[in-house]
Amino acid sequence: MMDWTDSPCRVLHRCLTKHALLYTEMVTADAVLHGDRVRLLGFDPFEHPVALQLGGSDPAKLAAAAKIAADFGYGEVNLNVGCPSDRVQSGRFGACLMREPAVVADCVAAMRAAVSLPVTVKCRIGVDDQDPEHSLRALIDACAAAGVGIFAVHARKAWLDGLSPKENRDVPPLDYELVYRVKRERPDLTILVNGGIETLDQAQEHLRHVDGVMLGRAAYHNPVLLADVDARFFGGAPVILEAAVDAYAEHVERQLAQGARLHSLIKPMLGLYNGRPGARLFRRHLSENAARHDAGIAVLHEALALVRVHGTRAA
Ligand SMILES: Cc1cc2nc3c(=O)[nH]c(=O)nc-3n(C[C@H](O)[C@H](O)[C@H](O)COP(=O)(O)O)c2cc1C
Repeated sequence: MMDWTDSPCRVLHRCLTKHALLYTEMVTADAVLHGDRVRLLGFDPFEHPVALQLGGSDPAKLAAAAKIAADFGYGEVNLNVGCPSDRVQSGRFGACLMREPAVVADCVAAMRAAVSLPVTVKCRIGVDDQDPEHSLRALIDACAAAGVGIFAVHARKAWLDGLSPKENRDVPPLDYELVYRVKRERPDLTILVNGGIETLDQAQEHLRHVDGVMLGRAAYHNPVLLADVDARFFGGAPVILEAAVDAYAEHVERQLAQGARLHSLIKPMLGLYNGRPGARLFRRHLSENAARHDAGIAVLHEALALVRVHGTRAA
């Protein structure tokens, strides 16, 4: 998610779940080809498994960008066919490509020819006045014919005319049943459902119908829910929240030593204790102190001490 799932966020999430696949923010193929690659694509190997999400509609550029992603060590390249922002529409990529399944198929075919990594697609069920019964199947069939086997479907349309990107994440109605039907029709494909899923109980219910669940805002705003993912869905070891937080604090300390700013490192932690005693003090201490130019690891330890004292009292 743009501006959210940067490398620090992914490292925090990886401290909370060893198994869930993590995705980068969308990076355009042009940015990969012409921008500061280390800044745009650099990640910590600890983040694995991690997928790079690309945006674009030019097969040759996407193929070259996918190759660069493979060289950087990503485990998967995902093509964005869901972003509704104006900037993206004027570049003719993102959700507006739901109208052009043949173009998307050319893109993923070129990407697949360039790399041996899985090439996957994240899409909507349609845009504007499209009939989702047709548009979702047309997109998936075209990409599957080009060899794509994994789709993450944000189960609502994007209304490109008139809604902001934020509204486009909430206003068009969700249609999970359509995604379930497509999975039933195409058991050969791996289908992940996305959109409006807030709890692991809801995720478990979706998993009766599809192969996977993609969490966006819930994972960002309430990262603690990721601590139950491994034990619940992957047969993994239970994650002890405070041990995971300490592991992330060590990462923060290492990053600070390399010149990173505390402010950007603690951003994904702000929602960590939401709903728990001391959460407000934790957030306030970080917000008030982490932006100082000389802010160091002590600020984080002080904030953690505040919330842990409250946790102990509440226990
Ligand atoms: C701040 C923000 C940035 C987002 N950026 C991206 C993006 O770069 N690529 C993408 O495929 N989806 C992006 N999304 C959409 C989410 O991945 C997801 O599809 C959407 O929020 C619905 O799922 P949710 O209800 O679990 O959040 C973004 C969402 C938010 C809130």
